Amino acid sequence: MSTAVGSRVSRKDGHLKVTGQARYAADHPMKQVAHAVAICSTVAKGRVASIDSADAEKAPGFLAVLHHGNAPKMFRPVNNFMSASKPGEIRVVFEDDKVHYAGQYIALVVAETLQQAQHAANLVKITYETSPPLVETEQAMGTVYDPSEFFGEKLKAQRGDPFGAFQSAAVKHEAEYFTPIEHHNPMEPSASMAAWDGDDLTLWETTQWVVGARNTVAETLGISEERVHIISPFIGGGFGCKGFIWPHSVLSAIAAKKTGRTVKLNLTRKQMFSGVGHRSETRQKVRLGATKEGKLTAIQHDTLVQTSTVDEFVESCGNTSRFLYSSPNMSIAHHAVRVNIATPTPMRAPGENPGLFAMESAMDELAYKLNIDPVQLRIINHSDKNEHTGQPWSSKYLKECYQVAGEKFGWAKRDPKPGSMHDGKFLVGWGMATATYPGMRSPGAAKVRILQDGSAHVISATQDMGGGTYTTMTQVVSDVTGIPVEKIRPELGDSRMPPAPVSGGSMTTASVLPAVNRAATEALKKIVQTAIADEKSAFHGKKEDEVVAGSGRVYLKGSPPESGSTYAQVLAAKNQAAVEGESTLQPGQEREKYAFQSWGAQFVEVKVDPQIAKVTVSRVASAFDIGKVINRKTVESQAYSGIIMGIGMALMEHTVYDHRDGGIVNSNMADYAVPVNADIHSIEIDFIDKPDPYIDPYIGARGAGEITVTGVAAAVANAIYHATGKRIRELPITPDKLL
Ligand code: MOS
Repeated sequence: MSTAVGSRVSRKDGHLKVTGQARYAADHPMKQVAHAVAICSTVAKGRVASIDSADAEKAPGFLAVLHHGNAPKMFRPVNNFMSASKPGEIRVVFEDDKVHYAGQYIALVVAETLQQAQHAANLVKITYETSPPLVETEQAMGTVYDPSEFFGEKLKAQRGDPFGAFQSAAVKHEAEYFTPIEHHNPMEPSASMAAWDGDDLTLWETTQWVVGARNTVAETLGISEERVHIISPFIGGGFGCKGFIWPHSVLSAIAAKKTGRTVKLNLTRKQMFSGVGHRSETRQKVRLGATKEGKLTAIQHDTLVQTSTVDEFVESCGNTSRFLYSSPNMSIAHHAVRVNIATPTPMRAPGENPGLFAMESAMDELAYKLNIDPVQLRIINHSDKNEHTGQPWSSKYLKECYQVAGEKFGWAKRDPKPGSMHDGKFLVGWGMATATYPGMRSPGAAKVRILQDGSAHVISATQDMGGGTYTTMTQVVSDVTGIPVEKIRPELGDSRMPPAPVSGGSMTTASVLPAVNRAATEALKKIVQTAIADEKSAFHGKKEDEVVAGSGRVYLKGSPPESGSTYAQVLAAKNQAAVEGESTLQPGQEREKYAFQSWGAQFVEVKVDPQIAKVTVSRVASAFDIGKVINRKTVESQAYSGIIMGIGMALMEHTVYDHRDGGIVNSNMADYAVPVNADIHSIEIDFIDKPDPYIDPYIGARGAGEITVTGVAAAVANAIYHATGKRIRELPITPDKLL
């Protein structure tokens, strides 16, 4: 029996990537391509008073300038996530003369070459009428309001009497936690290349959602979605900033229309800080009440975030706290202020990630007050069901995660006293935290084709932003058909393929692979029918249930596969090019019966140089329960990236705004620090690898894109407390906070 699923299959796209053959959005060679350069607002609030492009129009190579005064009519999309129409910002680019944040697109210049476009853009003179912007949360408190929902989830919830229970609790902890604005900073900046052929638009994009891009661009331009073709075969990382559809995808299209040319628009690194969303700042008040034995009696989690003046996106930090631990009394609430900063967007585990920094720091603080081991405190308060919805978990192996990662880490040898462990001149600290992320699933479709040469294709309008979708698709087809992975060609990232959901919410695996499995099974059914229909074959006249396809062959039930014909022989006998199976699957009743959630445990060792307050994360040991592991190699790689991103969040990442003009002070990769190899030391990852029995009948995997970042920042902060006795509740934990 073939077992490609579950093994360490190397990336199907790996060779293309390391040899530079993988074509990213800006790489597609096009004849006669013109270049667009976006001009962004230098003020954060006000209106555009004048745009003078006279000098630009005389510059060499100039082709066009577009702005609110001359842009074609555009429309606000439906903005419905479920119908796959979701702009990053509902205000249409160039809609009017208003300025809502620094970095907002004001004009677009198109010229023959990139240098000419940059030169002409420099010659455009723009004047503004400005008013003082609201950039800091404190300044914007006059705008505070309670948003009601976030993707269908209510943002306020209560169980029991959390206020009374907190007041009367034997042991209490209450504190406020702060996380800053962060930016995704994928290696590949966003890019869009547009070409019109009559009324048909082709966009080469870097997007986590080809179907969403097609629908959103079509609705914005007011053309039918059948006229729009999105091509995005490779994505150089996304982390959420390529999930919703941002204005550059529309700007390239209107520029191409205006000039009659293929137009390429690349965002600069600086524009990546204003044009594709960010993670909002969060201020979170947590109150925990417990008995002397450590049983939680009250959980309160109150979150204040920023959103923009043009749309609403809420970092829903408290939602996990509704069910993370067992407690009869619980309340969560969310508040938002409107600031003159671009609209926030999902960034790897939006809500869960900053939410767990607060909650898992608070649990550590409570553990110290109780004098109970932090792991033990979490086990005492383990939630055996989702206490918010009342549903049983589809599967949950969190205790196993604590055990597996804790043993590997050597947690039992920890002396809980802060400052008690040393390594030479370094203070050593050990901290831990729980990780969690929902097990989402959406409708997904796929097509599998078995060809006369014995190879196969697997096709879906999904995306691979680095997680390994190209590879996992072929593993599933290989196991169903017996065709080796090397002979299976995966195709994705094209809006004309069978539709799949956004590669966000960690749901690509759970949404697409069940459909791939079913499509492969359908293809086998077709090849059985083909064999039976062949009058010259040994299968002719048999019933379908007397003939089996699998292990690379068609054979009679009860006989060994080798006694039958290969797929190639069956197709060659009729000189048929291929058989094809297609399937669309969607989640069903199981979503009402069970709560789907992934779980994990993060254990972190830090070494702190007390003289210069330098923190090194010297060891991480983590274990995750994500249901079945489809590809241990690619999922380990994805887990490394999540943990490394968590270390960056804990120690480095922080976007700094100038409160006077809303400009970003560190919008470049030199000043916005992310971890490099020198910052990263030992990381050990384990998976419990038990299939989720309910998420789908075939695959049993819940996805791993986001959970691995959650909990890391809290585990680092907890380790720093253990090393130094200093409790830092504000990220990032830079040396100035420890001196
Ligand atoms: Mo994600 S932040 O759902 O790409």
